[in-house]
Amino acid sequence: MGVEIKVEHLTKSFGKQLIWGDVTLTIPAGEICVMLGPSGTGKSVFLKTLIGLLKPDRGSVIIEGTDIASCPERELYEIRKLFGVLFQDGAMFGSMNLYDNIAFPLREHTKKSESEVRDVVMEKLDLVGLLGTEDKLPGEISGGMRKRAGLARALVLDPEIVLFDEPDSGLDPVRTSFLNQLIVDLNAQIDATFLIVTHDINTARTVPDNIGLLYHKHLAMFGPREMLLSSEEPVVRQFLNAQKVGPIGMSEEKDADELAAESDQELPALPPIPMQLEPSNGIPRRSQREPGAWCRDNGVTPPPGSFDDNMSMTTGA
Ligand SMILES: Nc1ncnc2c1ncn2[C@@H]1O[C@H](COP(=O)(O)OP(=O)(O)OP(=O)(O)O)[C@@H](O)[C@H]1O
Ligand SMILES: [Mg+2]
Repeated sequence: MGVEIKVEHLTKSFGKQLIWGDVTLTIPAGEICVMLGPSGTGKSVFLKTLIGLLKPDRGSVIIEGTDIASCPERELYEIRKLFGVLFQDGAMFGSMNLYDNIAFPLREHTKKSESEVRDVVMEKLDLVGLLGTEDKLPGEISGGMRKRAGLARALVLDPEIVLFDEPDSGLDPVRTSFLNQLIVDLNAQIDATFLIVTHDINTARTVPDNIGLLYHKHLAMFGPREMLLSSEEPVVRQFLNAQKVGPIGMSEEKDADELAAESDQELPALPPIPMQLEPSNGIPRRSQREPGAWCRDNGVTPPPGSFDDNMSMTTGA
């Protein structure tokens, strides 16, 4: 279960405005990837291009041998069934209760009987911890519950790929920790490929197997979590450590004067690499690796204090 997404030389613009160009990366089957980037760099556009809602100017998105950037509409319709998408605001129908919202894709895309629909809806509600709320309207529950309801709906068609657009935006830190644990547990349980767009650095540092960073109209870096968390590349380093010093300014890039002004400032040391968040359900991650394995295999010395079990603060445990 879980399929790979192979993105090659993908370029997208709207009219004359280039959003990003020449993006090449492979999202491995069954793993969790996080995509980061300053606001407006085209992360949501990237997700929409992956499901074929937006057409790229150039390049390909290969899923199970089909290039969804160029395939006919009918094939695209089939491929889309592999996806579950959690939109930023949950995208629930306001006048339908949670039960009907979650049942919607099943009634729309399958020939299941109402009793079969009921079984699936209840199973997914249970999975996200929302049993007993099925009669509530989306407006009657909290933001965190709406996210989980959105997640339940994204899962009803048993997706091979789940895309999350800022699942943690607007959540308090405790709920973000619970949601992150739920995401890691689900990934281990259903074995689908997960791609998460987030602005939460703690999520990015602890949840994924791989991290990508979109910056200044291109993919600055994509690779294993440990590679980016030990990287000295200025943009990656600045973003993943939420620092002011570095090439990224308040509005896109800093200019030469701004950069010169901070040239004598010493960069703070890289913080330790935290342990990866482990599934709490006893099922290992598909990509389970020993902490520090990437660093060791690649001759990289991780920052002092990395992979210390006592760093429970940053693992959200
Ligand atoms: N359908 C569209 N038509 C024209 N321009 C668009 C369209 N969708 C997005 N854009 C533009 O593409 C750029 C990237 O938008 P996008 O929503 O992908 O950013 P983002 O990285 O998701 O930002 P944020 O972190 O704030 O969510 C923006 O400049 C936006 O105005
Ligand atoms: Mg967005």
